Amino acid sequence: MVSPGMRRYAKRTDAQATLVGEPGSAPVDPEALFGRRAPLRLEIGAGHGEFVSQMAGAHPDHDFIANEFEHIRVTKIAHKCLKSGVTNARIFAGPAETFLPRLPTGAFERIYILFPDPWPKHGHRRRRLVNLACLRQLTRVAAPGCRFVFASDTHNYACQVLSNLTLLPGCWRNVQAPAGYRIDIPTRFPTVFERHKKAEGCTIMYVIHERTGSPAP
Ligand SMILES: C[S@@+](CC[C@H](N)C(=O)[O-])C[C@H]1O[C@@H](n2cnc3c(N)ncnc32)[C@H](O)[C@@H]1O
Repeated sequence: MVSPGMRRYAKRTDAQATLVGEPGSAPVDPEALFGRRAPLRLEIGAGHGEFVSQMAGAHPDHDFIANEFEHIRVTKIAHKCLKSGVTNARIFAGPAETFLPRLPTGAFERIYILFPDPWPKHGHRRRRLVNLACLRQLTRVAAPGCRFVFASDTHNYACQVLSNLTLLPGCWRNVQAPAGYRIDIPTRFPTVFERHKKAEGCTIMYVIHERTGSPAP
């Protein structure tokens, strides 16, 4: 059900549509998309777009590609970017599972997955987005030195990501060794879920890895 606050995003304006990427399965060409060659950042599951719109505004010399499953949220993200004068972000609707294979290999300097749907019930964990197949795709699209930032208040999800990253030996370096993660770090542009979860008193786990130069499996 669409909440009253979201209804105005049900229809996309022409201006909003200029920031929304083509659906389908064609490869995404960032240079064609932005009309320039700039360092690239990627956000998956961008939600209401606070993070990508603010990060893009703070880094006008970088280009941002965001993916979000829900079309109505994609329109809201485009609205937020336009409102803050951001031109260096493009948003693609649909599932990350079909979107990630469209992205170029070794292209991204930062990848963010912040508070993905937690699927806390044991029997539902196989629905989690950041599984080994997803991490393989991220390994492919990450440039050497790329930082992958994952955050969740669902601790066994963060541990699952940490564990799955060990199944890509040599591809990622944990920058938070020896603990392997950080708890409740202050963040510059907190997402909607981050603010809600912190307000509820939840402990947030942040997992940050850096891509090595080893070829992706
Ligand atoms: C819990 S929300 C978090 C949103 C935002 N990152 C935040 O922290 O506020 C998870 C988001 O991931 C999106 N999502 C869920 N499954 C997805 C998928 N397979 N591909 C892309 N986005 C997905 C949801 O629509 C939702 O907007």
